[in-house]
Amino acid sequence: MTSLSITTTDFIRQPKQLLINGAWVAAVSGKTFEVINPATAEVIAHVAEGDAADIDKAVKAARQALESKVWSGMSPSERGKLIWRIGDLILKYADELAELESLDNGKPVVVARAADVPLAADIFHYMAGWASKLQGVTIPLSVPYTPSAQYHSYTRLEPVGVVGQIIPWNFPLLMAAWKLAPALATGCTVVLKVAEETPLSALRLGEIFQEAGVPDGVVNIITGFGETAGAALAAHPDVDKIAFTGSTEVGRLVVKAATGNLKRVSLELGGKSPSIILRDADLERAIAGAASGIFFNQGQCCCAGSRLYVAQEIFDEVVEGVAAIAKNIKMGAGLNAQTEMGPLVSDIQLRRVCSYLQSGQEEGARAVTGGKQRAGAGYFVEPTVLINTTHDMKVVKEEIFGPVIVAMPFKEADDELVRLANDSIYGLAAGIWTRDLSKAHTLANKLQAGTVWVNCYNIFDAGLPFGGYKQSGWGREMGAAVLEHYTESKAVTIRID
Ligand code: NAI
Ligand code: MG
Repeated sequence: MTSLSITTTDFIRQPKQLLINGAWVAAVSGKTFEVINPATAEVIAHVAEGDAADIDKAVKAARQALESKVWSGMSPSERGKLIWRIGDLILKYADELAELESLDNGKPVVVARAADVPLAADIFHYMAGWASKLQGVTIPLSVPYTPSAQYHSYTRLEPVGVVGQIIPWNFPLLMAAWKLAPALATGCTVVLKVAEETPLSALRLGEIFQEAGVPDGVVNIITGFGETAGAALAAHPDVDKIAFTGSTEVGRLVVKAATGNLKRVSLELGGKSPSIILRDADLERAIAGAASGIFFNQGQCCCAGSRLYVAQEIFDEVVEGVAAIAKNIKMGAGLNAQTEMGPLVSDIQLRRVCSYLQSGQEEGARAVTGGKQRAGAGYFVEPTVLINTTHDMKVVKEEIFGPVIVAMPFKEADDELVRLANDSIYGLAAGIWTRDLSKAHTLANKLQAGTVWVNCYNIFDAGLPFGGYKQSGWGREMGAAVLEHYTESKAVTIRID
C-alpha cells in the first residue's frame, strides 16, 4: 500500500473540530468519534462529535451572517470571484484532496483525482457565474378592474435564507460542493452536516473556504451523527431550507422534521436505475458502459445502473462480457494507484450488501461471478453479476448500494421493456444503448427518470440538472434548476400612472 503524503499525515493528526462562525471549535459535549480506513478497518483520525447544541450554535452563526448581509450584500461580481477562487483552490490542492477522499471513503485515489475533485471544482466555477446572473423578470399586467391605472411589475430573486444541508458518504467532497456552491451563489448562509463515515475532505474544504476569504459564519461545518446532529438540523426552527442527500428512509424523516416551521425541502434519494441494451447496440461500448455504470465507486452511487435489461438475443453475450469485466477488476486499497475498485465505505455497508447477496441467492438468483465478501481485512465485496432474477425479488426491487447488478432478458418485440424499466419506486437515472436514434428518443421519453444517458453512463456536468422522479427525490441539483431551491422570488408591483 502506498504511504500517505506528509501533508495528509499532518492534516489527520491535528484535532478535527467543527467550523462555527469562522473558528474551529470542539463540540459542546467535548465528545469525538473515530474515523475508520475502510481498506484496513483501522482508526485514522478522531473528529468532534457535534450534536443538537452545536447545530444550534452553527444556525445562530449562519443567521447572524445572513442578517449582517456580509455575504448577500457583497456585489454579485465580488461574490462570484470568491466562489471561483474556491474552485481554483480545490484544483490547487487536488492531489491532497484525492488522497484524503481515498483514505476516508475507500475509493481509488486515481478515480478521486480524475472525477470527484475536478467535478467539485467545476461546480464552484460554474456557480460563480450565476452569482451575477440571478435576474428577475418584468411582467406586463392586465389587471381588469382599474382600467386607468398603470403598473410596473417585476420580480427579484432573493436568498432563501439560512440553509441546512445534510450529505452522505459516497462522494463526500463532491456532495459538499454540489450543495454549497449554489447556496453560496445565491447569497444564502449554510450549516453543512457531513456524513459520519467520511468527515475529512469537508473539513479540508472548510479550510479552503477560509483561505478563499468566505466571511465568518457564512459556511458552518458540523461533523456528527445523523440521529443527533442531522435530525436537529432538519427540525431546527430557524433554518429556512433543508437540502438532503441520502437514503429514502431518512429522506422521509427529514420531510417530517421540516414540518415544524415548514422549511423548504429538496431531496436526492435512492435509486434502482435500469441499464437497457437493445439488440442493435454497439456491444463493446454497451458492455463496458453497463459494467462501469454499476461498478463505479464500488456500486455506491445513487444513480448506479443496478438493473440490467438486455434484448434476449444478446443476453448471454452481454452477461458474459459484463462478468468478464467484473472478474478482471483490480480490487485493493484505494491509495494503491493500481486499484480499480476499493472497499465499501463501512462495516455496516459491507453487511448490508452481503445480506442482499444472501437474500438474492436464497430467492433463486445465481451469481455468474462474485457473490461474496472478499476474505481478509477491509470491507471488500466482489463485483457481482446476478441472473435468474425476477421483479418480485428484493435484489431487483431494493437499492443495494454495492457492486451488484441483476441482469434480465427482455423481448424487444413485446414492448414489455418500458413497463419493466419503470417498475420501481425509484426514478433517478437510466442508460440506453442502441444505434437507432428513433428508438433512443422514444425510449428516453417514456422512462420515468430524472437523467437518461444514451450510449454512455455516469456523465455529470455542473450545467446538467440531476435528481429524481418518484421516491428518488424532490427537485434537481446543479444547472440553473438548482437555483430555485435557494432563492425566493419576490413580485413587486408599483402603480405608476
Ligand atoms: P443515511 O440516509 O442514513 O445517511 C445520509 C446522511 O443523513 C448522513 O449525513 C447521516 O448522518 C444523515 N442522517 C441519518 N439519519 C438522519 C436523521 N434521522 N435526520 C437527519 N439526518 C440523518 O444513509 P446511510 O445509512 O449511510 O446508508 C443507507 C442506505 O442509504 C445505503 O445503503 C444506500 O442505499 C442509501 N444511500 C443513498 C445515497 C444517495 O446518494 N442517494 C447516499 C448514501 C446512502
Ligand atoms: Mg443511516
